[in-house]
Amino acid sequence: MPRGGQSRISIVINGDRVEVPAGITVAAALFNLGITALRMSVSGEPRGPVCAMGVCFECRVTIDSRPHQRACLTAAVDGMHIQTASTS
Ligand code: FES
Repeated sequence: MPRGGQSRISIVINGDRVEVPAGITVAAALFNLGITALRMSVSGEPRGPVCAMGVCFECRVTIDSRPHQRACLTAAVDGMHIQTASTS
């Protein structure tokens, strides 16, 4: 196993396949990759995680074609497809 025994999984973010640590949240995986704008506000401003505990809903992304999923509460799963910066 790479990196001191920590297993890795493969997910697809905005069409790009990446490897992330198993057990990581979607929000943490995106943050680690430098992706901080997860959605767009109705006025077109980029929005990202604020509370990281499921309260603010600013981290909503589309996961496996399901919109409005809170990235901070969702564990990344091997093969998961994530779309960020939607207008939803
Ligand atoms: S960061 Fe607040 S709900 Fe996810």
